[in-house]
Order: sequence, then C-alpha cells, then structure tokens
Amino acid sequence: MSKSRPLPRGVAIVGTGMSKFGAFPEKNSRDLFVEAFKEMSASVQKGFDPSSIESFYLGNFSSDLFERQGHTAPLMADAVGLTPIPATRVENACASGATALRQGVIAITSGMYDMVLVGGVEKMTNLPTAEVTDTLATAGDSLFEIPVGFTFPGFYAAIATAYMHRYGMQPEHLMNVAIKNHDNGALNPKAQFGVTIQKWMEGRIAAAIKKGKPAPTWQTIWDFLHDNAANPMVAWPLRLFDCSPITDGAAAVLLVAEERAHEFTDHPLHVIASCQASDAALHDRADLTTLPAARLAAAQAYEMAGVKAKDVRMAEVHDCFTIAEVVASEDIGFFAPGGGFKAAEDGVTRRDGSRPVNTSGGLKSKGHPVGASGVAQVVEVWKQMRGEAGARQVGGDIPLALTHNVGATGSTCVVHIFERRN
Ligand code: COA
Repeated sequence: MSKSRPLPRGVAIVGTGMSKFGAFPEKNSRDLFVEAFKEMSASVQKGFDPSSIESFYLGNFSSDLFERQGHTAPLMADAVGLTPIPATRVENACASGATALRQGVIAITSGMYDMVLVGGVEKMTNLPTAEVTDTLATAGDSLFEIPVGFTFPGFYAAIATAYMHRYGMQPEHLMNVAIKNHDNGALNPKAQFGVTIQKWMEGRIAAAIKKGKPAPTWQTIWDFLHDNAANPMVAWPLRLFDCSPITDGAAAVLLVAEERAHEFTDHPLHVIASCQASDAALHDRADLTTLPAARLAAAQAYEMAGVKAKDVRMAEVHDCFTIAEVVASEDIGFFAPGGGFKAAEDGVTRRDGSRPVNTSGGLKSKGHPVGASGVAQVVEVWKQMRGEAGARQVGGDIPLALTHNVGATGSTCVVHIFERRN
C-alpha cells in the first residue's frame, strides 16, 4: 500500500454553497445545482470570474434511475454557464461527493489546473420510497447481498446488532445521536428536518388536538422515540428516527491553487489531506463493527496532514443511520472502539462538547441527497472554521476540521482534513 505523502501542491477552498435540502417536486437537479452554484459564487469574498474555472467534477450517484437522466455533469455545467470546460460525473454511491472533491484536489495538485469547481447533486424524491430503496440498494452487492433481501436500513441494522453484541450498546443509545443531530439541524436553515425532536413531538400533539383526535400521552421525547406508532421500526434495532431521509439537494465548492487563494479571499480553507480507501462488500468482511476503509482513509489523512486525531476540533461524518455516526466517530480516531456510543450519551459530540460531530444536523436532520452529501459536509466545515455558522457556531477556534464520507456500507470511504491559517 502506498504511503501517504503531503499534497504535492497546496489546494485551497475559496467559496462554498448549497441549495436548501428537502423534497421539492417543482425542482430538478439543474435547478438545485444552480441554487448551490449561486450561493457558492456569492460566498467568494473578493469575487471571481466563472470563465476562469478550468474543470468541473460532479458527485452524483444515480440520476439515471432517480430522474431517467444520465450524463449529468455537462448538463450541470451548461446550467451554470461553464461549457465547454471538461465536466466529469463521479459515481461512488453515497461517497460520490467527496470522491469528486478528491478528483478536484488531484487535478490542482497535478499542476494541470489552478481553479476547479466541485459539485454534488441528487434529486431522489421523484420516486416512491420502495423504488428509492431499490435504487440505493444497487450500491450493495447485487450477487450476494441484494438477492437475500438486504436494503440499506438492513445493512446498517446488521452493523448495529454486531456492535451491540460486542460493546453492550442498547438501541436507546442510538437515540442520543438522532436527538443531537436534530438539535443541530434545527439551527440550520438549509436542513430538510430543521426541527428538534421535542418540537416535532409537540407538533404531532398539536396536530392531533386540532383534528379532534385523542392527544398522544408522550411526556418526553424518550416516550415519543419509544412509541412504535410515532417512531416505527424500520429494520431492528433501527427505527424511523435512526434513518436519514430521502432528499433533493445540491452543493458546490470552488478550489484554487493555494498560491492564488488570496486573490479570492482573505480567509481560505486549506485542504491538507485528501484520502480514499476501498473494501469488499459488507457480507465479505470479518468484522462488522468498524469500516476498515474509513479507518485506513483516516489514518492516511492524518499522516498526509502531519496531524493527529486529537488535534482535529470537529468533524462532519456520514451518519446515514445513527449507528453509522457512532462507528464513524471511532473510525476517525475521535474515540476508541466501543467508545462512540458513550461519547454521544455523555454529550461529547454535541456542539458544546469537546469533539463536536455533525454540527450541520448531519445526514439525519440536514438530509442526504446522496451524491451531494460529501460536498455539503465541506460547506458546514467552511462556515464553522470561518465563524459563519450563526446560531449553531461552535465556540472557540477551529484550526483543523475533518470530513468523512462513506459509499454504501464502507466499500468506499473518503476523508479530508482542512486547515484555517488566518
Ligand atoms: N426521520 C424522521 N422522520 C422521517 C424520516 C426520517 N428519516 N423520513 C420520513 N420521515 C417522516 C416524514 O416527515 C413523515 O412525517 P409526517 O407524517 O409528520 O409528515 C413520515 O415520516 C412519513 O414520511 P414518508 O416519506 O412516507 O416516509 P417513508 O416511510 O416513505 O420513508 C424511510 C422513511 C426511513 C424508509 C426513508 O426515509 C429511508 O429509506 N431512509 C433511508 C435512506 C437511505 O437508505 N439512504 C442511503 C443511506 S446509505
């Protein structure tokens, strides 16, 4: 395996943007991407000339099946006026976004380009849930996993049960992750479910009363989360509130060669590690309680950046299901194996904790338009590191932050580390 060397040329982020995440029957992928691109353009402090963008990489998992539209990248490039530059779609399941980002980083470090646009988009809500589930399942192993009935909630339920068996975690522990991420998402105006679970519960009670139905008797959010009607089982032990939703959304990030960053902003973010690893499908792994590709990508990223996990202040990780955040927080070295669920229980990963995780609301509350998620993670890190995250801003300096994006059940994992120098 190759050793990870420092990036051969510095790469900086000078602008980021995202569309609102949610279900938008009136919008298509192009509308969503234009929204993200416009916000990204407005975020470039000193402005930039879009005709200076030299190449474009787009994370997109399955526009073919979701929208019956293949060959998505040139269409997005055209929608924002970038043709005829090279436009390339990157598909790595739910890690398509971060893989596209990595292609952008490689394109600049190679010396071939000075300015590259990275985007991500997915328009999932055109299809009914059962068809979305089938489409997502194409990211699993269609020879050995899907024919025996696995879907994504099922895969992550298998990970959760293995983890519970080894470490003594209870299903209730996972609820701490959902509660935290909804608390964070409630402060994110771009989130699909921008509401705390407390408010969600109160809304349900109010709606029942308004309809003249008997008011539910929940006293606390724990009653609500344990109620099989309010929070039904999807795949034991994962309930509705353990799952990320089905989402439409897009995100965009502008990368430049580091030596040119100050032409565009006084406060760039420096990409100091961009690492990716692959693995066999879930059924072929010896241990289901960790994603080895995430561990490897994280270890290589720390080596590439010349920093340690303890130096990284916060992370946006791939919480497609609550158990995924627990495992991710261990795989990136924030906590020892078996320590992730306790950290969530103790509030360590909350915004005011010592290792904030998913301050954006994560995939759980912000939403998970699969090809866009890895790019949207960078939007949050950009805001937090520059002190622009508004009501959900983490206190104190954030010199280093990390993003962790997973494809399927960890057959692809991509980890980036970002540094703020001024
Ligand atoms: N968390 C909390 N509430 C959710 C939710 C979620 N993930 N998804 C939907 N809801 C809510 C809706 O807002 C709606 O609430 P309302 O009745 O108050 O309006 C209610 O649940 C029903 O919504 P609906 O869209 O009909 O849900 P669904 O049963 O069709 O889908 C899931 C729910 C969990 C099956 C679906 O969101 C899902 O498949 N999620 C996983 C996606 C996935 O696998 N992504 C890739 C991971 S790698």
